[in-house]
Amino acid sequence: MLKWKELYDECLNCNKCELKNSRNNMVFGEGNPRSRLMFIGEAPGADEDRLGRPFVGRAGMLLTKGLTALDLIRERDYYICNICKCRPENNRTPNEVEAEACLPYLRNQVALIKPKIIICLGSTAMKYILGSDWRITRDRGKWIERKGCYIMPTFHPAALFRDESKKILFWQDLKSVKRKFDELRNDL
Ligand code: URA
Repeated sequence: MLKWKELYDECLNCNKCELKNSRNNMVFGEGNPRSRLMFIGEAPGADEDRLGRPFVGRAGMLLTKGLTALDLIRERDYYICNICKCRPENNRTPNEVEAEACLPYLRNQVALIKPKIIICLGSTAMKYILGSDWRITRDRGKWIERKGCYIMPTFHPAALFRDESKKILFWQDLKSVKRKFDELRNDL
């Protein structure tokens, strides 16, 4: 297992898949690595690729706004990153080769952070974290305990722009995250 700085450098110099050739910036992750709450998305989009920061575009701003309303603040309360650290062109879903190449970096991040709570944002994160038997519409909002860590899949915030009716369920899920965070606060 690499330490934080070594891991960052390794990601920066990574050559394990094709995404390296088209991306502008590697997007490692952001927030408080000492917090035990972690959000995991799919891959950087155009804004994230341009700025080298996760979840700063339209979907990211919506997520951040919801979390801030619950007094969950990125720099203080959670860490956020993605399955893939580089942007797939035209925001396509990363393929399995790309995701599998990048997953050891995420696993290393998880090993360093030791989260008590992991939120999978969307079906790609859910698939690579929980496995392929899970379905976002059926299983979102459920808490799944694995090795003492509580994992919850929910919609990707970008999905809320395509289907407004998901907003209310997403908001319910964020409130459930906040309750779990408060409940575990003393153990965190
Ligand atoms: N979508 C993601 O899954 N991750 C980001 O960082 C931005 C948009």
